[in-house]
Amino acid sequence: VLREVIMTREELIEEAFKAMENSYAPYSNFHVGAAVLTKDGKVFWGANIENASFGATNCGERSAIFAAYSNGYRKDTIEALAIVSDGDRIAAPCGICRQVLSELITGDTPIYLSNRKDEMDTCMNELLPYQFTTEDVCR
Ligand code: THU
Repeated sequence: VLREVIMTREELIEEAFKAMENSYAPYSNFHVGAAVLTKDGKVFWGANIENASFGATNCGERSAIFAAYSNGYRKDTIEALAIVSDGDRIAAPCGICRQVLSELITGDTPIYLSNRKDEMDTCMNELLPYQFTTEDVCR
């Protein structure tokens, strides 16, 4: 055993559902919650936060990953990410979130998706192949 299991997949998904209660979505009424688990056992919540200027909206998964980074965590110290929503189908990250997450978590970091009805486990290597990365910019 390399390190203790600090939280189960199911527990992290429940953290994301708790985060979803803080969603501010008066325009879409579509609620998203996310939870980042760090390797030292901390959990950072995120929710989608909308705005009357719709484009200023922040998605739940970006809120969560920005919270983890804002507290000093980086891709090598992030264990897993859960993203949940209250839609009829599982919501996979939008294109903007895929670009952001592809830089801020590793390609094989587990991503757990759920809407209570269905569940899917994935990772950024699966969600965004042929990524545009920091190596492309910083030549
Ligand atoms: N949303 C997310 O929070 N994450 C996604 O990956 C898909 C979309 C939010 C943005 C907006 O507040 C609402 O869902 C409807 O698009």
